Amino acid sequence: MKLPPAPRIRRFQRRLLAWYGVHRRDLPWRRTRRPYRVLVSEIMLQQTQVDRVIPKYLQFLRRYPTIRHLARARVEEVRRLWYPLGYNIRPVRLHAIARETVARYAGRLPDDEEALRRLPGIGRYTAGAVRAFAYGRDAAVLDTNVRRVLGRVFLGPRRLARVRGQKTFWDLAEALLPPGRAYDFNQALMDFGATWCTPRKPQCPRCPMRGFCATVATSAS
Ligand code: ADE
Repeated sequence: MKLPPAPRIRRFQRRLLAWYGVHRRDLPWRRTRRPYRVLVSEIMLQQTQVDRVIPKYLQFLRRYPTIRHLARARVEEVRRLWYPLGYNIRPVRLHAIARETVARYAGRLPDDEEALRRLPGIGRYTAGAVRAFAYGRDAAVLDTNVRRVLGRVFLGPRRLARVRGQKTFWDLAEALLPPGRAYDFNQALMDFGATWCTPRKPQCPRCPMRGFCATVATSAS
């Protein structure tokens, strides 16, 4: 795919970060840079809504405050604590990550992509989230919300219909990252997708991307 021209990229970055300055959500995992906490939050947030994750995240960290506490726990107990969140392979994988991190990396989650992705259940999204949110690296993230925002703003319905697979979106997400600002930029993209550029009722009339969005011009959704 042809990447957007540099001025449009800069405009999107500026406007998104300005939007985030006003509309950011105060979420517990945004008050920490500790890799373990970032990891717990991101694994919980896969498949589960923010509102349901918040109390469970806090409870989980009270019970297992560090990766070593988690590694020492019995997997059945971890599974029980997690249970109401559903998709119950996640606590099993998280527990395995904790054990492997303690065994191989002295309890410190790796910061390079390949090592992270060798851990159980860590894919490109989670590796990017840990690298950007815990280690401040310029790593992109792509989840359903981010994909929707990028597809609407930069592709528009016709090109979107022809896209196969994820590569186009990852390329876009990487091209858009402002160097050194990946933390705020990625968190902002997630909030923008979750609260503004929503699936059914996007806030197009007051959207800061309105002037150059590839979708607002052709339809209301
Ligand atoms: N969904 C996935 N990761 C998230 C985060 N860090 N903040 C809000 N929603 C998310």
